[in-house]
Amino acid sequence: MIVNFLNKFSMNISKIINTRRAVYPSQFKEGDIDKEIIKIILENANKAPTHRMTQPWFFKVYKSDSKNSLGIKMMEAFELHSNTESPLKKKKILQKCEQSNCIIAIFMKRDPKESVPEWEEIAATAMAVQNMWLTCVEYEIGCYWSTPKYIDKMNDFFMLKENERCLGFFYMGKYDHSELESKERESINVKTEWNF
Ligand SMILES: Cc1cc2nc3c(=O)[nH]c(=O)nc-3n(C[C@H](O)[C@H](O)[C@H](O)COP(=O)(O)O)c2cc1C
Repeated sequence: MIVNFLNKFSMNISKIINTRRAVYPSQFKEGDIDKEIIKIILENANKAPTHRMTQPWFFKVYKSDSKNSLGIKMMEAFELHSNTESPLKKKKILQKCEQSNCIIAIFMKRDPKESVPEWEEIAATAMAVQNMWLTCVEYEIGCYWSTPKYIDKMNDFFMLKENERCLGFFYMGKYDHSELESKERESINVKTEWNF
């Protein structure tokens, strides 16, 4: 009975993992993502493993008007970072925000006691993002994690403290995952050494 349950469970997980894709804002469909679904996505993020329970991740959710303000700040940060005008790039930044129904900014808070190395806290936050990404498959939401270089210029906008850092943006919009091919990956055989 337990074995059957586990087999069924692991099959579902594999299917979700194999269906997951980076879906970009230009591919999103019209449609609203319910606040209840966003809450589930964040609840699942919060279940990520974390060494010494430092739980380094936190999030800020942008929708409607706040999403537009975020887009404007992104354009300003891009300008500051690159020291160029580039109206085309700025237009693209804003367009991605407009095409998305919801954007979640991803943050990591360094444990004040530094009880674990920073890389472990970044890794734990990445696991939280993977939980979000997989949950999006279940709810037919397209999404991807974007890590633009200009995020460091947005610390004031996000009102971050010394020990906090933005790790990018999670763009989300309605999407039917059956439409996408999987990207080619080098075989796991060349990435694994078997020692038995
Ligand atoms: C930590 C991380 C950062 C990423 N940053 C970007 C990014 O800045 N821009 C982008 O187009 N994709 C970004 N991606 C998405 C990857 O490009 C995408 O996952 C990869 O092409 C594999 O495609 P798949 O997710 O559909 O399998 C990021 C993914 C990860 C895990």
